[in-house]
Amino acid sequence: MSQDTDKTDKPANPSRRRMLGAAAIGTVAGAAAGLASGMALAGATPPQPPILDGRRRFADQTVLITGATSGIGRAAAEAFAAEGARVVFCGRREQLGEEVAAGIRDNGGEALYIRADVREEADVDAFVAQAVQAYGGIDIALNNAGVTFNDPLHEIATADWDDLYATNVRGVFLAMKAEIPHMLERGGQIIVTSSVNIVGARPGLAAYNASKRALAGIVQTAALEYGTQGIRVNAICPGATDTEMIRRDAGFIDAPDAVWHAGVGVWARSNVHGMQRVASPQEIAAAILSMASPEMTYLNGSLFFVDGGMTSAL
Ligand SMILES: NC(=O)c1ccc[n+]([C@@H]2O[C@H](COP(=O)([O-])OP(=O)(O)OC[C@H]3O[C@@H](n4cnc5c(N)ncnc54)[C@H](OP(=O)(O)O)[C@@H]3O)[C@@H](O)[C@H]2O)c1
Repeated sequence: MSQDTDKTDKPANPSRRRMLGAAAIGTVAGAAAGLASGMALAGATPPQPPILDGRRRFADQTVLITGATSGIGRAAAEAFAAEGARVVFCGRREQLGEEVAAGIRDNGGEALYIRADVREEADVDAFVAQAVQAYGGIDIALNNAGVTFNDPLHEIATADWDDLYATNVRGVFLAMKAEIPHMLERGGQIIVTSSVNIVGARPGLAAYNASKRALAGIVQTAALEYGTQGIRVNAICPGATDTEMIRRDAGFIDAPDAVWHAGVGVWARSNVHGMQRVASPQEIAAAILSMASPEMTYLNGSLFFVDGGMTSAL
């Protein structure tokens, strides 16, 4: 496997604009910083879904997750493990990966972190092979690793476009190509993390929008190819979710939480129609677990929106 450091790759285009889609979170966050210094910001933190103690829907199941060192993947790893699954996950940041796995084990769960870069076929193959070797197979795969950047189309460096596609599209293809032969032996299910951008666009996100739409083609085709062979394939399409991805995208990865929450809260009131707030990663993880739960036997080929109403607006 390749040996990157714990830092993620920098995009090739140095004149990158910082914005979350069309929204200038920076402006509202800057204004909110003054507020944040003097008062509590009620309702600024997205809520956590209730933890239903004792539910073990995934006992004795092996769950593979790409990109679980942070964000939605991490929340899903923790939630699956809390419900009895053996979780095997990857990401490039090794220290963070080991910390996430240790945290799960400290809470009584079972987790194995394996460093893998989904852009590298050898990494993906080794990741899947090691999971199968450790636990005898794969029951559920969440192909979740993804990246984004913001640039007007004519300013996108070709290398950045290729790199985003290598992660968001080719990485999902490589993972499914490696996972499906094992699932053909005993059944299984695959969930791919797409986005609300599968149906709607935002300026600056041509590469990201296109990549998340490409996933619909992969998911729906695979649902047809494997639906009668015991493998269900679906996509989750989250709305704006409070993770490193959108904090980085907005230029607030190092901002104090209060400043970030204030800024993104103001942004959400006019950009997240319906709920008027962003989701917590735990809320998206809860939806992923519902999709993967044993009672969802007829869910196949679906593009499952969990966006608080964001895509309902005209
Ligand atoms: N946040 C949102 O509003 C939102 C909305 C809709 C969909 N999504 C999608 O949700 C997924 C997760 O993103 P997030 O929001 O949770 O952001 P995040 O916290 O930045 O998580 C991204 C994850 O992907 C991993 N990753 C990125 N490139 C990788 C590579 N080449 N190989 C292996 N792992 C890689 C990262 O790990 P390392 O850096 O350690 O490699 C990290 O664990 C993405 O597919 C994203 O497009 C997010």
